[in-house]
Amino acid sequence: MRAYKLVKNGKSTEAFQVEEKPTPEPGAGEVLIQSEGFGLNFADVMARLGIYKDCPPLPTVIGYENVGHIKALGEGVEGLKEGQRVLAFTRFGGYADHILTPAMGVTPIPEDLSVGEATALATQYMTAYYAVEECLNLHEGDYALVHAAAGGVGTALIQILKNKGVTIFGTAGSPQKLNYLKDLGVDYPINYREKDYLEEIKKLGFERKIDATFNPIGGDYVKKDYALLNAGGAVVIFGASKMTEARGNPFKMIKLLFGFGFWSPIKFVTSSKSLIGLNMLRIADFKPTTFQRCLKGVVSLVEKGIIKPTVGKEFDHTQLADAHTYLESRKSIGKVAVKW
Ligand SMILES: NC(=O)c1ccc[n+]([C@@H]2O[C@H](COP(=O)([O-])OP(=O)(O)OC[C@H]3O[C@@H](n4cnc5c(N)ncnc54)[C@H](OP(=O)(O)O)[C@@H]3O)[C@@H](O)[C@H]2O)c1
Repeated sequence: MRAYKLVKNGKSTEAFQVEEKPTPEPGAGEVLIQSEGFGLNFADVMARLGIYKDCPPLPTVIGYENVGHIKALGEGVEGLKEGQRVLAFTRFGGYADHILTPAMGVTPIPEDLSVGEATALATQYMTAYYAVEECLNLHEGDYALVHAAAGGVGTALIQILKNKGVTIFGTAGSPQKLNYLKDLGVDYPINYREKDYLEEIKKLGFERKIDATFNPIGGDYVKKDYALLNAGGAVVIFGASKMTEARGNPFKMIKLLFGFGFWSPIKFVTSSKSLIGLNMLRIADFKPTTFQRCLKGVVSLVEKGIIKPTVGKEFDHTQLADAHTYLESRKSIGKVAVKW
């Protein structure tokens, strides 16, 4: 089998090396899958840059999700069969043409989903689904703010929130992305490079009216989001993309950390607002039943035609470095995937 190893932090052109090794046999409870391709996530870019805490020490194979056909089943695996087309979660190890993974993270998927569509449903749609359905309780007529709204998780959040009848403010950094957000049905698309989103939302008359914000950016965006919340509202923090800008500059990094603010529980009580942290790796590790429920929920929304991933670009595996550069460039819309 072949796998792309992350051997060096830094530029995508120098970061990966292909490695050949024997294909493993599945152990008890495991599934061996012959891969058609794997998805990229922004966390992969952060891992390559050396700013992702959960990344194993180098050299290592990263990658959270894979699509392919089952080649062999380990002892005791039920409900799956050889030859079946499946989507599989990988806790790293995803940049490979064969993957071995516990059966719990494997689900059958239709033959007609492309590699990009199928892999988008894994980390990105699962994160969005968990954030909306498990962290919060939003209703028709509520207001939500989605950052990085044109990205993978952003697209998923918008589709799931639209289905609930929530009015959406979405931020992105280019006119093309704003057009995309309008097409997706975002009620108030905001180009944060042209306008301060906090001021813009206030100007639109929604100061202290937002019920939820979805924030993978971090730094001062957390305080700004909190200022927009209505009573009962919450900021869901699930990333710190701003770290890519501060990387290698200790002063910027300290500014970023201070930007998050210092929070007292008393403030949450008196204002009746909250901050919710989210890391899907921890949910997969410690809440397997919740994880399974979310997976069923995502698959059910696809089957009903309520969600449909947008594929920004699919690359050949020989262009892995280009795929990484593209996602890092902040130009991508929807999912970026790599095919074998
Ligand atoms: N906690 C979890 O379990 C979990 C799971 C999945 C993803 N995430 C996080 O969710 C975020 C989105 O992930 P994704 O894979 O769907 O990526 P993505 O949104 O498809 O791509 C990243 C996008 O973020 C936007 N962005 C805004 N400010 C940025 C900044 N300062 N630096 C870099 N990008 C910035 C860029 O678009 P614009 O600039 O145009 O907005 C960029 O295109 C990432 O922060 C990721 O780490 C967390």
